[in-house]
Amino acid sequence: MKILVLHGPNLNMLGIREQGIYGTESLDEINEAIAQQAEQLGCTVETFQSNHEGELIDAIHRAKGQAAAIIINPGALTHYSIALRDAIAAVDLPVIEVHLSNIYRREEFRHRSVIAPVCRGQICGLGSMGYLLALQGLAALLQEEESCHV
Ligand code: DQA
Repeated sequence: MKILVLHGPNLNMLGIREQGIYGTESLDEINEAIAQQAEQLGCTVETFQSNHEGELIDAIHRAKGQAAAIIINPGALTHYSIALRDAIAAVDLPVIEVHLSNIYRREEFRHRSVIAPVCRGQICGLGSMGYLLALQGLAALLQEEESCHV
């Protein structure tokens, strides 16, 4: 079972960028923790970061037929990218939206996610732990769905 983990714009700057909000961990460190958690859960992960909307959309399209589910932190695209939302809706895979910060405690323009309505769930405000919880949740959901289909 493979899960695709997508990181959107500016998340390559983690550890350097606004540490008071996003913490001191780098994206490489977060991806390493994700890979370890996946191993414990018996699934494989592919991680990908891009600062470009189109590259994220292409990665979502490629996931169809290749991955069982997606975890995505769309960064600022969360708040306005209808194209990203449509890509998620198009592939019809279970998707969990993750944010390191609690977007509802921040500026008003961050309170709205155009992505959340096409996702299975959303985790925000728990830092990098959010990715690990999303992985656990998806592994459990996918197992549950599999056992319903036997
Ligand atoms: C973020 C929240 C977004 O509002 C912001 O634009 C980001 C990071 C988060 O993980 O908290 O780039 O997605």
